[in-house]
Parts: sequence; C-alpha cells; structure tokens
Amino acid sequence: MMGVKILGTGSAVPSRVMTNDDMAKIVETSDEWISTRTGIRSRRYCDAEVGESHRTLVRDAAARALEAAGIEPAQVGVCLVATFTADTCTPSAACLLQADLGMPEDTLCFDLNAACAGFVYGLHVAECLLPGAARPYALVVGADTLSRVMDFTDRTTCVLFGDGAGAAVLERAEGYPELHAVWGSRGDDTSLYAPGVGCDDPSYLHMDGRAVFRFATEVMPRCTTEVLERAGISADEVDRFVYHQANKRIVDYSVKKLGLDPAKCEGNIDHTGNTSAGSVPILLDELVHAGKLGSGSRVLMAGFGAGLTWAGALAEFA
Ligand code: UT7
Repeated sequence: MMGVKILGTGSAVPSRVMTNDDMAKIVETSDEWISTRTGIRSRRYCDAEVGESHRTLVRDAAARALEAAGIEPAQVGVCLVATFTADTCTPSAACLLQADLGMPEDTLCFDLNAACAGFVYGLHVAECLLPGAARPYALVVGADTLSRVMDFTDRTTCVLFGDGAGAAVLERAEGYPELHAVWGSRGDDTSLYAPGVGCDDPSYLHMDGRAVFRFATEVMPRCTTEVLERAGISADEVDRFVYHQANKRIVDYSVKKLGLDPAKCEGNIDHTGNTSAGSVPILLDELVHAGKLGSGSRVLMAGFGAGLTWAGALAEFA
C-alpha cells in the first residue's frame, strides 16, 4: 500500500519580537493578563524595513525543509501554501515559492485557506494529490502574517497573534502509512472571521473569544480520538501530539480530557503567539531541532480555526 512520510521540516520567524510589555504600550493590557489567560509571553512581527514579508517567511521555511529532507526543488511534485494572509491574492504564495526556489513548471502549486487548520488540511490534500502528481514529493507550507490583519485598538484579539511560517516535505512511497486524516468545516459559524486582505475597509480579524474557546475544546479532543481510531492505535503509541497553538489553556484542557502524557504535548505559544497556519509546522520543526522528533517518530497533529475549520492527522518521520 502507498502512503506518505515526513522527510524534513523547516521554519522561519521574523526578527521583531513583541513582548507582552510591548503590547501593553499599545492597548490596555498586562503581561499578567495575557500570560495567565493564554500562555503567551511574546510574539514576532514581520519588519518590512529589514525586507521581511510573508513571501520571505514562506521561502525560508520551505528552503530549510527541503534541505533537511535532502530533496531538490526540481524533485517536488506538489507545492501547497496554507495561508489567508499572503502578500498577494495572485500570484498565490505557492506560485511565488515555485519561482523563488525554481521548482518545475509542472509542480501543482496553489494556496489553501483553512486558516489555523490549514497546515493539517494541507498534509491531507497533498496526500490526496500526490498519486496524480509529476513527482512523489510534496512541499507543504503553513504561513501567516497575522500582524497585517490585527486591529491594534482591540485588546481582545491583537495580543494573541504573531507572524511565522513552517514547512514539511512529504514523500509518497510503497509501504508508507496513510495520514488517517480527519477534517471538517462549519461555514455558518461567524465567531471568527476576516473579511479579506486588500479590501478597502480595514480587513481585521474578528473573534468571539469565548465561543471559539468552546469550539476548540470540543474539536481538539474529537480530532485526536478520531485519528487514533482510524489508525487503529492507542495514544501510548504516539510519540508527540502537536496541537495548534492558540491558547495554552485549550491544549491543557484537551490533554487532561484525553488523559495524555503532558510531556508528549509540549507547546511553544509562549514565544510565538498564535501564528495560524504557521503554528503546527513551526512547533513540529522546533521539536525536530530539540531532538524530540526524528526518524521513526510518530506525531499526531490537530488544528482548528476560522471557517470554522478543523483537521487532524497522524504522520511518521522517515
Ligand atoms: O486560532 C484560533 C483562534 N482563537 C482562539 O483559539 C481563541 C479562543 N479563546 C481564547 O483563547 C480566550 O477566550 C481569550 C484568550 C481570547 C480570552 O480569554 P477569556 O478567559 O475567555 O476572557 P474573556 O473574553 O472572558 O474576558 C475576560 C475579561 C473581560 O473583561 P470583563 O468583561 O470581565 O470586565 C475582557 O474585557 O478580560 C478582558 N480582556 C482583557 N483584559 C486585559 C480581554 N482581553 C484583554 C486583554 N487584556 N488583552
């Protein structure tokens, strides 16, 4: 049976660090409120003055993932960028990446908008597309520059989000496992939405925090359980649970409800904030660099966000 494995990961975060104390200079908030309610201590924003943009984050994360995988751009058959904050609607971020890295013209390139669930959605979409692609490697990037859609007069949203990108290279081969992905959407729920980058009116992210919190604590444990059921394994057989970093309290709730070992569910929200589609792959890459994920590791990922969307998947490292 054909399936997929992760060959390598990469990430890129901008240079400008915004601490909670920095946020308190912009809106009426405090380090104490933000850190106890969310676990966030700092986040990073792109700085155009030093040449940082959505495009550069995507390019750097993708190049690092390819290097870690030992794969050349010419070998990539599918290139997906999960995002809703790209620099341009068209060319898509994936097409810009094709040009930046010199991937062949017959690489399937497009952007995918499933907000914070985008990277996990993207893994599943890549798994589905690879059988029809020109080459058996997929580059899946999750990247968002949320600082572009923040209302910096709204303390209930602006303190939560940051910018960043992460990427993974998948290989499709005989004998590799399926991702056992689960996914869903609920388009009539307006508790989290952004009208669109480039609109004449400010295109800010709008959120009913408590409603999204309830949604998240419903779908995160559900995604986990469903993926484990599909894979026919127990939580003990998973090396790491990589959850979307929106609020440490959401992860803690899910970990407790599922009875997971907290040591397998480490997060990084303290220094990233919520980077939307970047969140899962940045954490994945940090764990790889910390030596906590590597060859043979099995990782269960789950994300949720605007749409509303959610997705879960189980992947193995080659
Ligand atoms: O990727 C998916 C995206 N989003 C999420 O997953 C977010 C899910 N929701 C959450 O994480 C939490 O609901 C928040 C962190 C957004 C808010 O935490 P909360 O414990 O649900 O707080 P709350 O909305 O109930 O607000 C409590 C109080 C309010 O004041 P009053 O009405 O009690 O006087 C808010 O006005 O905290 C106030 N507040 C703040 N105070 C200081 C809201 N934001 C801030 C702030 N600083 N930044």
